[in-house]
Amino acid sequence: MEGLDSDKIAALLGAGYPGRIHVFGELDSTNSWLLENGACGDCCLAEKQTCGRGRRGKQWLSPANGNIYLSLRWCFTHPPELLPLLSLLVGISVCKSLHDSGLRGHGLKWPNDILVGENKLAGILVETSNNMQTVVIGLGLNVYTVGSADEQNTWGSLQQFMAHVPDRNDLIASIVNDLYDLLSNLPNLQYKDFEKGWNQWDLLSGNNVSLVQADKKYSGVVQGVDSLGRILLQQEHGKITAFSSAELSLRW
Ligand code: BTN
Repeated sequence: MEGLDSDKIAALLGAGYPGRIHVFGELDSTNSWLLENGACGDCCLAEKQTCGRGRRGKQWLSPANGNIYLSLRWCFTHPPELLPLLSLLVGISVCKSLHDSGLRGHGLKWPNDILVGENKLAGILVETSNNMQTVVIGLGLNVYTVGSADEQNTWGSLQQFMAHVPDRNDLIASIVNDLYDLLSNLPNLQYKDFEKGWNQWDLLSGNNVSLVQADKKYSGVVQGVDSLGRILLQQEHGKITAFSSAELSLRW
């Protein structure tokens, strides 16, 4: 399996890409490193993370087995209107990159887990600092083996679903190029652009799910998301309620 190569990735990025590519053998967390170091536009990659972080305070197991642990730091001059949708937009962007790299049959489980069938291939953690003007986008993508494990998901890796797994450096460059497009255009992006992308990749709308929030369980049919990226759930009595992702677990 090919090693991560910062020069190769940098050479594949669009002309004018504003940041540098930092590659490490081992880090605690690429998100933590970029929150403390690096400049706007920089990317950080590690072959292995010792304290990889997931959403809702969970650990992201990150062994050195050829998976992708990638973070990108971005700075906005003014927080764009669609910033509350950023973590969902990143999911849409990564789905597109994976499609362009040959993966089929994947989609998004709200808010931004990437699945094939019921198997989670990738997770995204977006963290903000500095009054919402600096964001660090973290992506964990199982390429060769399944890193994380928990009772809530069945897991999968690209290798299971692709006859030919792309070179990780090519894949990373494609993901970063698409994220760059998204981030540089975010100030001009319209809600209808988000809706179009979301409808293309959303796996949950129309499905029955259960949500657990603060030990309370809600069941119903998913009716898409609202303008803040909250999931809309229609319960049996017909009422539609919006739930945000902060402290929520979702079963499908
Ligand atoms: C999830 O819980 O689904 C999100 C997981 C995000 C993991 C990635 S791996 C690269 C980056 N660095 C981290 O510590 N976390 C993110």
